Amino acid sequence: MSQIPQEKIEEVRLASDIVDVVSGYLTLRQKGRNHFGLCPFHSEKTPSFSVNSELQIFHCFGCGAGGNVFTFIMKMEGLTFPEAVKLLAKQASIALPEDTENLAEYREKEALYFANELAAQLFQQTIRTEQAVTARRYLSERGIADEEFDDFGIGYAPNSWDGLIKHAKTKAFNIDVLHRAGLVIQKDDGGFYDRFRGRITFAIKNLTGQVVGFGARRIIEDNSPKYINSPETDIYQKRFILYGLHQSRDAIRKSDEVIVVEGYTDLTSLYRVNVRNVVATSGTALTQDHARLLHRYTSNAILLYDADSAGAAAAIRGADILLESGLEVKICVMPTGLDPDEYARSRGEEEVRKLLLSAVPLMEFKLNKFEYENRYGSSSQKASETRSILASIAKVNDPIRRSFLVRDLSERLKIDEASLWKEISQFERQNQLRIDRYEKEPERDDKFFRTSKGNAELGLLQVSLRHPDLIERILKNLSLDDISHHEIRLLFQEFSKGIDLLTFQPQAFLTAIQDQTIAAQLSNMMVQDDPHPKPWEFARDCLIRFHLALIDHDIQRIREKMKPSSTSDGDINTLMDELKYDLDERKKIQSGQYIVE
Ligand code: UTP
Ligand code: MN
Repeated sequence: MSQIPQEKIEEVRLASDIVDVVSGYLTLRQKGRNHFGLCPFHSEKTPSFSVNSELQIFHCFGCGAGGNVFTFIMKMEGLTFPEAVKLLAKQASIALPEDTENLAEYREKEALYFANELAAQLFQQTIRTEQAVTARRYLSERGIADEEFDDFGIGYAPNSWDGLIKHAKTKAFNIDVLHRAGLVIQKDDGGFYDRFRGRITFAIKNLTGQVVGFGARRIIEDNSPKYINSPETDIYQKRFILYGLHQSRDAIRKSDEVIVVEGYTDLTSLYRVNVRNVVATSGTALTQDHARLLHRYTSNAILLYDADSAGAAAAIRGADILLESGLEVKICVMPTGLDPDEYARSRGEEEVRKLLLSAVPLMEFKLNKFEYENRYGSSSQKASETRSILASIAKVNDPIRRSFLVRDLSERLKIDEASLWKEISQFERQNQLRIDRYEKEPERDDKFFRTSKGNAELGLLQVSLRHPDLIERILKNLSLDDISHHEIRLLFQEFSKGIDLLTFQPQAFLTAIQDQTIAAQLSNMMVQDDPHPKPWEFARDCLIRFHLALIDHDIQRIREKMKPSSTSDGDINTLMDELKYDLDERKKIQSGQYIVE
């Protein structure tokens, strides 16, 4: 994870007033110190979403969402903390080294962004000039109007070997950087020439809207490839980038569904008929990273692929990957010979919507395909196809849904359920291994707060912010190293440097919080009446639970060692003594006699 220096985060925080930031997403009306609006995180008719400018927090009285400006952006944009900081930094024009140690890398990336931006500007200017008449005619024949060029980053690369190079020279821009950005190609003699020439260009953007590369289409039928693309660079890693996601994600979130197509023009044509929750893979296979990215915004995907067999095969591969990442996947098959672009253009919005409604769940799609293709198949062919279906079913997490799928499959294929289940358990084991190795985003894991220790740590933090006069007493009763939660430990470390009760500002701490759960809990607490009428008793209770959890952990350790199966060579009498001691301690902790008042 990239480390953004704390003072930079602070700088961004100060530059990003929460009322301004939230106002960018919804309409707020001021009432006293609070601003109210319709909650973007649940649907409602009367505003219960409030933003408190004094505390710099938001809180929804309806759904309980809450947090600071960073956690708002994380939730709203589906970003991680560093990404949220980055986005706000950009809006505030604050330069941010992604990683202080990697300043060189940061500069290199900035240079690559700049190179792509330079090219995008040139291409977008050129498409409006005389030299692009053929290109414009071509586009208009394909139903893309001039007004749409900017919406989709459509441009035209001059039809010469050095259009971009010359342009860069007029700006005194280093050609080596263009080369590293994949925009020019090096000749044997060391010179360079433009990669994109005489083609229509589609600017590919990352989630922050920066151009990272291009796909460029020929406008005359010749022997050259239909599309030429930017190569992978430090800023364009194809496994992370989906064309259009930058501008589609709002629609994806709102419709709670994403439509995945293959081509640039599939996307633009769907947009034109008001279907905007769409992204294009632009010729690369869907990856786990793509899936994870999409899953930030929705858990439903429709794959809209060509009907030819390559299209169907690609759809199934992509679908399996999405399924594995926990998305519900449907497949929508185009009528033979048409791609989504042609379909949308020739039939219009209503027909497209109808087509999308006809999408079938992946498993059903596989079954249909199986039944159709294996009417006369050999038994070994059928067995291998059946396994491929079972492999997909094994990836479905919901056990009830899985049972239904297995029953369905058993009925349709006339294979008994038990054999199918046996096969599935094999796949499950493989999947388990994979899942364990994958992600598990710790910052979104709120399980910890449901444990006694986690709950106690959060309680201590809450009561400290609300009643800073207790902080000193709390600190006397715990050792910082025993605090499990990294962020809570850091905050108490801050407290332990000494606080001035007269000037104590909880918001300074509130806005520094990165953990979504903590941020929501704390902002909830700050906007409610004091939930702790007897604050010290509450804190005391938390401290007791905190220490009980610690000793219970130790007791557990000793009991493990005492098990006959244990491989530890601890002497059983010593262990008994240790246990007895711990149990004694436990009683004392529970009675509160260790608490320093
Ligand atoms: P398609 O062959 O389906 O093209 O490739 P398309 O999107 O329908 O293109 P148009 O309508 O003829 O303009 C799907 C995607 O695969 C990538 C492109 O991103 C394209 O949008 N592709 C295709 C390439 O990268 N190179 C190629 O030569 C062809
Ligand atoms: Mn097409």
